Amino acid sequence: MRQTALVVGGGGREHALVRALARADGNPNIFCAPGNAGIALDAQVRALDVTDPRAVTALAQTVGADFVVLGPEAPLVTGAADALRAAGIPVLGPSGAAARLEGSKAFAKEIMLAAGVPTARAASVTHVAAGIAAIDEFGVPVAIKADGLAAGKGVVVAQTRAEAIDALTNALELHVFGEAGDIVVVEEGLTGPEVSLLAVCAGEDVARFPAARDYKPIGERNTGPNTGGMGSVSPIPDLSNRDADRLIDLVHRPVVAEMARRGTPFSGVLYAGLMMTPDGPRVLEFNVRFGDPETQALLPRLADDALELLGAAARGTVPDRPVAIHADPCVAVVLAAAGYPGSPRQGDAISGLDAAAATGAEVYHAGTCTDALGRIVTAGGRVLAVAQRGTTVIEARTKAYAAADLIAWEGMQMRRDIALDL
Ligand code: AMP
Ligand code: GLY
Repeated sequence: MRQTALVVGGGGREHALVRALARADGNPNIFCAPGNAGIALDAQVRALDVTDPRAVTALAQTVGADFVVLGPEAPLVTGAADALRAAGIPVLGPSGAAARLEGSKAFAKEIMLAAGVPTARAASVTHVAAGIAAIDEFGVPVAIKADGLAAGKGVVVAQTRAEAIDALTNALELHVFGEAGDIVVVEEGLTGPEVSLLAVCAGEDVARFPAARDYKPIGERNTGPNTGGMGSVSPIPDLSNRDADRLIDLVHRPVVAEMARRGTPFSGVLYAGLMMTPDGPRVLEFNVRFGDPETQALLPRLADDALELLGAAARGTVPDRPVAIHADPCVAVVLAAAGYPGSPRQGDAISGLDAAAATGAEVYHAGTCTDALGRIVTAGGRVLAVAQRGTTVIEARTKAYAAADLIAWEGMQMRRDIALDL
């Protein structure tokens, strides 16, 4: 039976998911909504308000989806997975109740405390005075985090007390994050390399991906403001498979068990953002979906059949083992628009897309659209991700940059140091 899958979202992560699914056995029918100009070449795209659970369900029914993969956090937090399940459509993604692991940092802390998962000491506050007390307890550096979703911009790691109080005031009194900042998590500052560990979870079963890393700041050597992610790499050579298995036992399994115990079982992708501190691993955050841009470096390595893995997970079963992976490392380099992460410039014509793809690299589209002249132009902050595998990390990054260098537009930004720290 020819299968039909619907991927919800329209970024680089969704393009990577679409490609992986489209290449699966059985010539599957792949839909993506809303997609982008590149996704439209690999899947049938449809318009969609991803935050409207009824619209998501209606589209899944219209296209006859055998299962749905929810890419971004917005449809998860607004309950698209619940609506799909209620309509009897299998979906990869947790319920709205379980998506609170990402949607509320205070809730994530509560779960970690209950499950005994190592994380930074923290206090959840709703008033500046209580926040200042916490800042004075932890000292600086200190992380000031808006509780809710803030498009990756809700975290300030303050180096001084004044900066910390500023961030606290911005969230609690000036409401710069709207309701997302009505609660603030004040967290002790930690140091160490960061690791992203993603696993597909269903029931008590956990199928982990290899470790990955994303590079969040806009500037080389991790300087400047944070972005959605300027590049990614997998694996992390100094984190062995055994280390990754131990982290799954330390973090993912207890969290999944605690969520089940509370009557809100977690089913979907659980992404732990970890810091490897001198005192051991600490969880910084959970996401309840594939990471962007980690996915662009992970899926090119997937040796399991993506349609089978994700379809089975949507139906509630995953193999309780690491996913099968090609040994070759993969590096993904993000190409961003002029002005990103502030106000990205739109509408610049992109050249070199075919030449880059002809090298064998994956050219994943994020913020692109087709203009009135039929040209592919920039239409967002992160525009493309160019991913390539190699026999070593060095070879992968050399090949990824060689392909990325064939692409150009006015004001294109790219970090030159992705995976250079490994
Ligand atoms: P989060 O969204 O919670 O992952 O935070 C975004 C980024 O802020 C992380 O990737 C870290 O680089 C940094 N960060 C978050 N929490 C801390 C912390 N407690 N100490 C130091 N840096 C942090
Ligand atoms: N790479 C971080 C995220 O997906 O939120």
